[in-house]
Amino acid sequence: MDPAAGLTDVRAASPTTGDDLVTLDGVAKTYTTATGTTQALSPTSLAIRRGEFLSVVGPSGCGKSTLLTMISGLVPPTAGEVRIDGELVDRPYRHCGIAFQTSVLLEWRSVLDNVLLQFEMRGIDPAPHRDKAVALLDSLGLEGSSRLYPRELSGGMKQRVSIARALIHDPSLLLMDEPFSAVDALTRDQLSMDLQQVCMDRGRDLTVLFITHHIEEAVFLGDRVLVMTPRPGRIAEVIDIDLPRPRRLEDAGREKQAAYAAHIRETFSRVGVYRRNQHEGGQA
Ligand SMILES: Nc1ncnc2c1ncn2[C@@H]1O[C@H](COP(=O)(O)OP(=O)(O)OP(=O)(O)O)[C@@H](O)[C@H]1O
Ligand SMILES: [Mg+2]
Repeated sequence: MDPAAGLTDVRAASPTTGDDLVTLDGVAKTYTTATGTTQALSPTSLAIRRGEFLSVVGPSGCGKSTLLTMISGLVPPTAGEVRIDGELVDRPYRHCGIAFQTSVLLEWRSVLDNVLLQFEMRGIDPAPHRDKAVALLDSLGLEGSSRLYPRELSGGMKQRVSIARALIHDPSLLLMDEPFSAVDALTRDQLSMDLQQVCMDRGRDLTVLFITHHIEEAVFLGDRVLVMTPRPGRIAEVIDIDLPRPRRLEDAGREKQAAYAAHIRETFSRVGVYRRNQHEGGQA
């Protein structure tokens, strides 16, 4: 069976609303190295709405991080174009914050100075922003931690610092690449709830692209979930998550959230992400 059969038309799944922050038009990436070429991402068109939380799930190597780095302007596409607020992205985009799987903190700087680094990197005097940074750290559950050093923090605390650093300059776009995958399950739950709170507080002023391997997390946080096929990745489906906010983790196993997660797994199965188990018998 052609794993691409029955894929949702990307434009139909992601109609432009006239209030899109990010638009991708035929964006594709092929890496060329000394050992050959790798087509990481098939031509992809997508609109990310202003103020939305867009979760992205897909198998390892399907081009999720590549997609994120092209939106940030850190890596150029080999075809197509990315626009943010109508402006062509042809250099690193300044009004975004990025959080990665690891916190990437500077060990010799305090928590507060790691957050303020965001200003220094932009050539802005950080001094007037100290109080705001402390307040942001407090709101992310790091009360009284601003003078500590990274070696004195737990993994979850380090991720909170990296989120504070990504948000301190009030970016319109927050790009997150598996930010919670290195922490334990309970910390991950708490971080998800705290991120939901941050997004609800900022409303339309913050648009989030959130990459994860965790299907339930994608559903819990997302206004929509973008489901990708194996490499070279393309969009299999974009699903509207029609659940009121604030969402509760206690409801993750309940009917509606569970049904969305099951639907995503069905899609993964349809596009060939899962290997068939020989004991599955007659199932298609
Ligand atoms: N700088 C690079 N040079 C060459 N190939 C690359 C580079 N970055 C990524 N690739 C290749 O492109 C493909 C997509 O990589 P990418 O990191 O975007 O996948 P991903 O979906 O983020 O995977 P994961 O879920 O494991 O993080 C992979 O085959 C990878 O080996
Ligand atoms: Mg990745």
